[in-house]
Amino acid sequence: MQKNNIQGIVLAAGKSTRLKTGRSKLLEPICGREMVSYPTKLLDELDMPITMIIGYQGDLIKKALDRYKFKDITFVEQKEQKGTGHALLCSKKTWSADDILIINGDAPLVHAETIEKLCYEHTKNNATISFVTANHSDPLVANYGRVIKEKNIIKIVEPANFTGDDVSESCWINGGIYLVKKDFLEKAIDDIPKDSISKEFYLTDLVRLAGEKKHTIKTVSVPFDCIRGINTMYELWAAEQIKRSQLIRFWMGEGVRFELAQNAHIDSDVKIGAGTRVCLGSQLLGTTSIGKGCTIGSHSIILNSTLEDNVTVLPYSYIVNSKIYDNAQVGPFVHIKNSSEIKPNATIGNFVEIKKSIIGQNTKAKHLSYIGDTTIGSNVNIGAGTITCNHNGKQKNKIKIEDNAYIGSNSSLIAPIKIGKGAFTAAGSVINKNVPENALAIARSRQENKADYANKIIGKTTSNKKENKDEAPFIGAIKSKDATTISTE
Ligand code: UD1
Ligand code: CA
Repeated sequence: MQKNNIQGIVLAAGKSTRLKTGRSKLLEPICGREMVSYPTKLLDELDMPITMIIGYQGDLIKKALDRYKFKDITFVEQKEQKGTGHALLCSKKTWSADDILIINGDAPLVHAETIEKLCYEHTKNNATISFVTANHSDPLVANYGRVIKEKNIIKIVEPANFTGDDVSESCWINGGIYLVKKDFLEKAIDDIPKDSISKEFYLTDLVRLAGEKKHTIKTVSVPFDCIRGINTMYELWAAEQIKRSQLIRFWMGEGVRFELAQNAHIDSDVKIGAGTRVCLGSQLLGTTSIGKGCTIGSHSIILNSTLEDNVTVLPYSYIVNSKIYDNAQVGPFVHIKNSSEIKPNATIGNFVEIKKSIIGQNTKAKHLSYIGDTTIGSNVNIGAGTITCNHNGKQKNKIKIEDNAYIGSNSSLIAPIKIGKGAFTAAGSVINKNVPENALAIARSRQENKADYANKIIGKTTSNKKENKDEAPFIGAIKSKDATTISTE
């Protein structure tokens, strides 16, 4: 069967009541992508035209899927949620292919091989309806529709309707993926009855209807992990756990070392180069791309960022929407964000925040700094505690620090300002005028030492000092109500 004779339908209108968040479960992220995007992407990659049934929070779903640029997708609304059979009925006018493939939107773990196997068996057996099943040791607990064969008729019995005595009577469950001949579907869809218990129209009744009319029904079984549906928070956790381990296993195959792999998180769109080491508790998120031979230190979070080769990220670093070039080192405890760029061999050390800034090659900012809206050249030294004052209360202004400049510790650089090539600023300076090339800027008050003045302030004499010699300094401090009148050393 040519896949272009198949139209894909994704059921995504449900209310997600069992998740209890008030939000459509279909939007819940699983390794960085919305749950519903997984089955949809799968059909898109198989070149099927897709009809998605939306209803509850449909506009949000539509908007979220925009970014995937699916080749051929149409949305149909199910205004009232009356069950999966009714959801499918809402799309009747769109049915155009010879066979209609229906998949639950809450099935993010389905592989292309499962769909291909279903299509192959359906065609080979000239079946009217084919669907995917899986074995589960306790279908009642799992809350899936149960596949039951009675007098050569196959039917799917929903958990609420199961009347058998033995819970393990049938261990076959319905995977929620169906391929149905359009001609049959067009007639049978109107014959689905309203279920007496749930008052819903069950799509699964199509199987019983086909059996009663002696149509050929084919089942294709796959591992349970490939068809898991998600109704509850626990099932969401379990599915993401599986997806994550699949991704980690894939990247291990590509030569990536994971220290304590069960503790790392990777999103579906992340790329990692061979020889990179990902330490425990790290999260690589969004569209992050990591080069070869990098080290991602423990508990670091990297979101939508690019790291070139041999970059070292020391523990507890948070890097968002930024780029770090070859051989640079950042961390521990850095925050790099808003399209910042850290050029080759640069070093960004402890407790440094970099916002919307470019840090040049071989430049170092190793301790306790804020660098915002700043462009820094190469071989610059940013002393400990340097702060760029980029906001004047109304707007942000830019700062430029040219090659080989040396910014003394605890400098405040008030924007807009330019520090010329090779210029120095003295430690503790508040710089608010441009500094020319190779100049030294000192902007702090002069120090004056007044001999013995400290003792005068606190009224301390030599005899006083002797009297209190056994008292620990902090005890004196606690006793004193006023810190300026501390009487002990
Ligand atoms: C469904 C099957 C069950 C199967 C299981 C596999 C039915 C009646 N039952 O049960 O046999 O074992 O999937 O995971 O189909 N939806 C709508 N409109 C609605 C109701 C649901 O679009 O009115 C959508 C949901 O958003 C969801 C999908 O259909 O994406 C499946 O619905 P859900 O309520 O999760 O069905 P299950 O109870 O899991
Ligand atoms: Ca479900």
